[in-house]
Amino acid sequence: MEPKQTKIIAVANHKGGCGKTTTVVNLAAELARLDLSVLVIDLDPQANASLHIGKHHPSEVKVSIAELLLSEVEKLPLAIYEDTHIDGVSLIYGSLALGMTEDKLKDEAPRPSEELRQKIQPLLGLYDVIIIDCPPSLKLLTSNALAAATDLIIPIESGSQYGMYGVTDLVRHLQKIYRINPTLNLLGVLLIRHDERQTVCKLIEGAAKEQLGKLIPIKIPTSTKINQAAMAQTSIQKIDHAAKVAKAFRKLAIWVADECQLATNKTEIIDDLDLTSDTDHE
Ligand SMILES: Nc1ncnc2c1ncn2[C@@H]1O[C@H](COP(=O)(O)OP(=O)(O)OP(=O)(O)O)[C@@H](O)[C@H]1O
Ligand SMILES: [Mg+2]
Repeated sequence: MEPKQTKIIAVANHKGGCGKTTTVVNLAAELARLDLSVLVIDLDPQANASLHIGKHHPSEVKVSIAELLLSEVEKLPLAIYEDTHIDGVSLIYGSLALGMTEDKLKDEAPRPSEELRQKIQPLLGLYDVIIIDCPPSLKLLTSNALAAATDLIIPIESGSQYGMYGVTDLVRHLQKIYRINPTLNLLGVLLIRHDERQTVCKLIEGAAKEQLGKLIPIKIPTSTKINQAAMAQTSIQKIDHAAKVAKAFRKLAIWVADECQLATNKTEIIDDLDLTSDTDHE
């Protein structure tokens, strides 16, 4: 089999609660449904992505990303868990210990921002897509994700008047990252809790386009299905296949696969996007 052209997508914004983890989990699930092999790396000490899709509690996992970042690359196979709650999606767990890992990297690593890039090097060619969930900070963990990534998605909560808070710092941080990783490609801003009838959403959409330059054409609506899916440790698609928000993530996966030139088996999914009518009117 030919080696794959692995795409590494970081989902980052240091603003807390803007939809990073929701995007990582549901985009991963939908990319896997397109027959792509997907690995999620949970780089957040809160370990929300691991709690959502992992079959183990993060505290029970021997080699999480925290240990991997501080150990020899030989530990990599022990860190990958292929059996998760989402079909076709593997996981490298996050851990509370990541806070300490960040301090150690800062003090001891020769290139503190480039440890992740080095550690996951052997995975290039094995997966179609690696998706990295970032913590709500611009410190070393996020720098490691951005230095390792080929592509970047920035979720912004357009349904909140504070959605753009901190974006200028993020832009400044990205300028520094481009020095380490000049080919990092901004896929775009993903608008979360978007409702184009609302003035706040229109204003945030305009400001995001102006400051970051690129919007993803698919927008994620507000939906209670998102919390339900997280509670049930599954994807939104499994909770309600025909919900608007499920379709939005399906379209997002198809869009991302096209942008990243990933060869998919998408006919079936495109067909059911057209055929199913919405079950919700949220
Ligand atoms: N489109 C949406 N509609 C309704 N609820 C949403 C939506 N997106 C996210 N949420 C909810 O908002 C909360 C924050 O989302 P999420 O955990 O994805 O954000 P995050 O950016 O990863 O947060 P953190 O910065 O803490 O890691 C969660 O409870 C999630 O279920
Ligand atoms: Mg999160």
